[in-house]
Amino acid sequence: MKQHRNLGSEGPPVGAIGYGAMGLEGYYGTTDEDNAVEVIRYALDEGCSLIDTADAYGNGHNEQLVGRAAANRRNEAFIATKFGIVFDPDETGTDVPTGWGFSLKINGKPEYVQRAIENSLDRLGMSHIDLWYAHYPDPATPIEETVAAMSEAVNQGKVRFLGLSNVTAEQIRRAHKVHPIATVQYEYSLWRREVETEMLPTLRELGIALVPWSPLGGGFLTGTIDVLGADDFRNNNPRYQGDNLAANKQRFEPLMNLAEELDITAAQLSLAWLLHQGEDIIPIPGTRNRERVTQNAKAAEIILNPETLEKISELAVPGLAQGQTLL
Ligand SMILES: NC(=O)c1ccc[n+]([C@@H]2O[C@H](COP(=O)([O-])OP(=O)(O)OC[C@H]3O[C@@H](n4cnc5c(N)ncnc54)[C@H](OP(=O)(O)O)[C@@H]3O)[C@@H](O)[C@H]2O)c1
Repeated sequence: MKQHRNLGSEGPPVGAIGYGAMGLEGYYGTTDEDNAVEVIRYALDEGCSLIDTADAYGNGHNEQLVGRAAANRRNEAFIATKFGIVFDPDETGTDVPTGWGFSLKINGKPEYVQRAIENSLDRLGMSHIDLWYAHYPDPATPIEETVAAMSEAVNQGKVRFLGLSNVTAEQIRRAHKVHPIATVQYEYSLWRREVETEMLPTLRELGIALVPWSPLGGGFLTGTIDVLGADDFRNNNPRYQGDNLAANKQRFEPLMNLAEELDITAAQLSLAWLLHQGEDIIPIPGTRNRERVTQNAKAAEIILNPETLEKISELAVPGLAQGQTLL
């Protein structure tokens, strides 16, 4: 991929499309360990240098996979990981409801932050992490305290840049005063566009990049999902439940048809549209499949004219998707 984007006004360049490794843990269908490592390496081959993982994915296993894949290619990979969702039964945290039928246990206390960085470095097998996010804000800990503890890891050379995920615009402003925030991660795609109202203007004012998570709507926007397996994690997402999935397929059909007219895949249309929303946007699509890594990376070469961009926006107007999500 020739296209690069900066991670925030002060940040380094990364490939315009990154790679999200979460799906390699079987949330949306299984894969084997060797394929998982190969797919991450393939993403690096394609120039998707921003590799996104989290300590919670696969209860730590995903960081080990990423560590294996990037072991001899540390300089090509820009490794982003996250902490704060507690998966170790011996750790405490604050229950945060998700609207997906379960709560997350979140810990942003300084002493936990210190343990989290050591554990992530250990699992990744690396001496430093390029970008370290707080995965969710801890309602029991002021964001300033969490970020101050994270900045200690920067001072110690264990982390290069700090990020936040699933935060409000107000929390971003408060955190940014404690330590510069390079990147914010939030769900953003043609079926979830809330960031456009308050979040994106705030990020732009502060010079912070936006990394949209689930940029393909967790797969919905690829137009390839008809039925989910019984243990598919997306069964928890109201937008995939009951009548909502069928209703959403109908509502987004004109968008899928437009991709066909443009002779690109629906996945490429969604990713290209995101990239056209600003030079500060770096999506991280996930896939278990090498061909799809290439297909997604090629979305960075697609130029959509203003009329097409407007048409896409109208066909996927904010609020079109049926089923509310709090996550
Ligand atoms: N910060 C957070 O709270 C948070 C939350 C969720 C996700 N994330 C991050 O965001 C990343 C991406 O999100 P995501 O994995 O939830 O969803 P996504 O990237 O929107 O979609 C992934 C799904 O789309 C399918 N897919 C990908 N490319 C395709 C293509 N070209 N054609 C057809 N199908 C395609 C994949 O299936 P196959 O594997 O079968 O190709 C997979 O089921 C994650 O890996 C994670 O790093 C962060």
